[in-house]
This record gives sequence, C-alpha cells and structure tokens, in this order.
Amino acid sequence: MTDRDRPDASDPAAASAASTLDARSVDAQRKAYAPYSKFRVGAAVQMSGQVFEGANVENASYGLTICAERVAVFAAALAGARELEAIAVCSDASPPSSPCGACRQVLLEFAPDPTAVTVTAINSLGERRTWTLAELIPDGFSGRELP
Ligand code: THU
Repeated sequence: MTDRDRPDASDPAAASAASTLDARSVDAQRKAYAPYSKFRVGAAVQMSGQVFEGANVENASYGLTICAERVAVFAAALAGARELEAIAVCSDASPPSSPCGACRQVLLEFAPDPTAVTVTAINSLGERRTWTLAELIPDGFSGRELP
C-alpha cells in the first residue's frame, strides 16, 4: 500500500468518509447478481453528500449486464443527487479492479471537477488502490462540447 492508497490520517473526517464508502461497497458486493461471470462487484458512490450502493446485475443475454458503478450512479440520480464526490468499488480481483471505460464515462457525467473525485478500488485481501477520476478518464467527453 502506497501513501496515496491510505486514507488521510491528517484529515480524520476524510478518512472516516472513505472508510464508510469502502464499507458500503463491501456491503453492496453481497447484493451482486453475477451467475454467469461469478465476478461479484459492489460499488458505493457519494453524491451530493449522500451514499448510494450498486452491484452488478447480469443477464442471460450477456450484453445486457450492467456494472455495479452504473447501478450506484443511476440510483443516486434517481434520488435527485447530481454531484459526484467519491466512489468505492469492491471486487475479488487482486490487485483491485478499476471501473470499466463505460462506467468512467458515466461517472464523468456527474463530476463537476474530475480532479476532485476520488475513485477507490478494494478487495477482501485488504488491498486498496486510489485514483482521481481525471486520471482514469483524461480529456474525456464531458458534454460541455455540445451546442
Ligand atoms: N463489472 C462491474 O460491475 N464493474 C466493472 O467496472 C467491471 C465489470 C461486472 C460486469 C460483469 O457482471 C462482470 O463484472 C464481469 O465483467
């Protein structure tokens, strides 16, 4: 674990928010419906100060599967939350796996400042990786290009 993968000990409020988000993603992973891939993913997003969970939901028509991150963001959007602050993703991958490209684009939609959005990936081994959303989707299509 590098220093940047450790919740900030000098900012107890930030550290506590990060560990809450981590715990909620672990909780969400239990709700995954992944009978085909067996790759269970949980996500917890903090949007507009509230936390929303998501888990991957697969389908026998594989392409209809939706990732945990998008389920969480859509739950938040449905509740009226619009400002993405942070997301934690829990899987059994080692090293912990980061959001797929489609999910990165959906996260970007709700990120007023992608450099200020922390993306954390964890697993049950206690491994933890963090990025900013700007690192995961540099120069992304934000929609500000649209007429
Ligand atoms: N999956 C996610 O839920 N999030 C990701 O970022 C990557 C992939 C899910 C989709 C599918 O149910 C399974 O993992 C295997 O791809």
